[in-house]
Amino acid sequence: MDPKQRIDELRDLLDHHSYRYYVLDDPETSDAEYDRLLRELEELEEQHPELVTADSPTQRVGAAPAGQFESVEHAIPMLSLNNAMNEDEIRSRFFEPVARQLGEDAKIEFVAEPKLDGLAVELVYEDGILTLGSTRGNGETGEDVTLNIRTIKSVPLRLRSDDGQAVPALLEVRGEVYMPKEPFEAMNRRQAEAGEKLFANPRNAAAGSLRQLDPSVTAARPLDIFLYGVGRVEGQTFDTHAESLDFIHSLGLKTVRERRTCESPDEALDHYREMMARRDDLPYEMDGVVLKVNALAQQAELGVRSRSPRYAIACKFPPHQETTKLLDITVQVGRTGALTPVAELEPVRVGGVEVRRATLHNEDEVVRKDVRIGDTVLIQRAGDVIPEVVAPIVEKRTGGETTFSMPEKCPVCEGPIERERRPDYKYFWCKKRGCERFLERRTAKNIPEACDKCDGPLAETDGGSVVFCTTLACHAKLKGTIEVFASKGAMDVDGLGSKLVEQLVDAGTIKDPADLYDLSLDDWAGLERMAEKSAQNLLDALNASKERPLARVLFALGIRNVGAHVSDVLASRVGSVDAITNASVEELQEIDEVGPVVAQSVVDFFANEANRAVIERLKQAGIRALAEAAVVEAKGDAFADKTFVFTGKLERMTRDEAAEKMRALGGRASSSVSKKTDYVVAGPGAGSKLAKAESLGVSVISEDEFLAMCNDL
Ligand code: IVH
Repeated sequence: MDPKQRIDELRDLLDHHSYRYYVLDDPETSDAEYDRLLRELEELEEQHPELVTADSPTQRVGAAPAGQFESVEHAIPMLSLNNAMNEDEIRSRFFEPVARQLGEDAKIEFVAEPKLDGLAVELVYEDGILTLGSTRGNGETGEDVTLNIRTIKSVPLRLRSDDGQAVPALLEVRGEVYMPKEPFEAMNRRQAEAGEKLFANPRNAAAGSLRQLDPSVTAARPLDIFLYGVGRVEGQTFDTHAESLDFIHSLGLKTVRERRTCESPDEALDHYREMMARRDDLPYEMDGVVLKVNALAQQAELGVRSRSPRYAIACKFPPHQETTKLLDITVQVGRTGALTPVAELEPVRVGGVEVRRATLHNEDEVVRKDVRIGDTVLIQRAGDVIPEVVAPIVEKRTGGETTFSMPEKCPVCEGPIERERRPDYKYFWCKKRGCERFLERRTAKNIPEACDKCDGPLAETDGGSVVFCTTLACHAKLKGTIEVFASKGAMDVDGLGSKLVEQLVDAGTIKDPADLYDLSLDDWAGLERMAEKSAQNLLDALNASKERPLARVLFALGIRNVGAHVSDVLASRVGSVDAITNASVEELQEIDEVGPVVAQSVVDFFANEANRAVIERLKQAGIRALAEAAVVEAKGDAFADKTFVFTGKLERMTRDEAAEKMRALGGRASSSVSKKTDYVVAGPGAGSKLAKAESLGVSVISEDEFLAMCNDL
């Protein structure tokens, strides 16, 4: 047989079996037979590479990793949906306004579809071939994820044309890429076994998987798709939404199942209730029902308000709730050192997922809710794997319950803890039943006026306190500590990335940052995937890092509330680590830009013996700035109270170095130009800041003029 003919035949057969298996969920052949056909096709294509086409079933994963995603403009914007949280809202926010606008006696049909929790995408088919797959992005512009979309088995690379109907020259379809529940849980089990991070919910897993730069990673993730809408289409018109979905279904595209056309609002509400009752039995996480007016002419008449259409609404389901027994409250230490109380529960199934633990957020939250060990508690889960404790069921108390208190030491390293009371922070949550806006902590000025999820009323309480472990080398946060230590603005150890840090910490090779300087060439070369040359480069980078100035060393220590800027301020004003170690909260607070919170964190950090031991060892390892005595006074304060803004490129030093010089003379750096700015130091490429300085009449000086000022002073 002519190889081209056989290749075509095999492709048709394979496409057909994929369609039966992935789209219809109704396979016609065994996996073994499918594999045999695929292998035959692969062999033929190998012998005849000139016959390979992009839409061949062998070409789902073939592309090399991309550097970044290109952006894609959607020809027709991808809208979002208004939400209703319960039946009253479905009536008042949808049925009533729709009826008012279309006239009380207009006959209106509704299509009800599941609302899946995943990532919205658009697929473009040209002459039946998949040419583009993009994410929704902001609705106008998304990202080109074609190579990743191609790896999803239920996405046809070419459309079917069964009954001889012509495929449209252009067809755009919209839908949701999602991860079904069962494969999601299996994937998280594998992640847990491999010691990798768990995905919080199927939505994050789908989004994270689709936005991988390497398509072979996406290919290994159990993604699926459901299409729920049509964008541009050439050579075809429809009267109803249902008709358009039937049409794309006939082309082999996977459309939303569990779709129902309803003749009246009451029928649609019945369906909403029915789906709510059935949602745990479905293979995918469903967070509600989408209702759409069926007739396209009526849709057009209703139109679109800002970003969401008036002809559709997402009717959300309330979060799953269950009661169970609170067996214990344990304390977890996160990567930042924050201590979080965790409820250990008698296992219970919540929305089809077994739950053993729930978060209690923080100490104040336990007190506010008056949750006691031994209580029967109400817990809820809204799509996320980790649920939260809503409230104790007080009537079920027996008197044997015990109250919880936060430990006075870090449960991981037994080191001292720091309680951070921030009156400028508040907790807020949405009071509306069923809304997913749970408790969150933010600075008071950043709390929205109404719920940012459902527009409902918010409740808030005082910011309360968060408890942190202050020990630099606490095992719970060691990976994070080392990553910060080696990062660019800190010790800048080129080549020491997160994968290496993970290996070193997991193997127990390093227990604190000072250990890094004890490793030999052989130690480095012995690590996985480490060539001799890279090992030498790392040693060189570590040696070079010993020369970093004090400000960067302070920043590298990862003291709470001490970022790059505060590190600069401390280094230039206090001058040496010894002086900082001996400073009191009051003394530190006298420094401009150092408030009570920063001062307390600094004092707590240096009061911690384990931290002082690490600093001593870093000193021994040869970190120069740690060994130096205070140098501030020597330079004086000629720039005192002068504010500088640096913009554009500097040629004789880096901006950091320039800022250090300036601070040593008492000046202050700012990132934006205002009337209060004294000098703008502008180099080549300076843009809007320079223009602003000129318009405000602020002095603009060159790098050379700046240096001359430093030396003259
Ligand atoms: S229609 C014209 N139908 O929900 C309105 N969206 O805020 C466009 N979604 O991210 C959306 N299931 O991806 C529609 N059956 C369904 C849906 C659905 C899930 C997602 C959609 C978008 C969000 C809308």
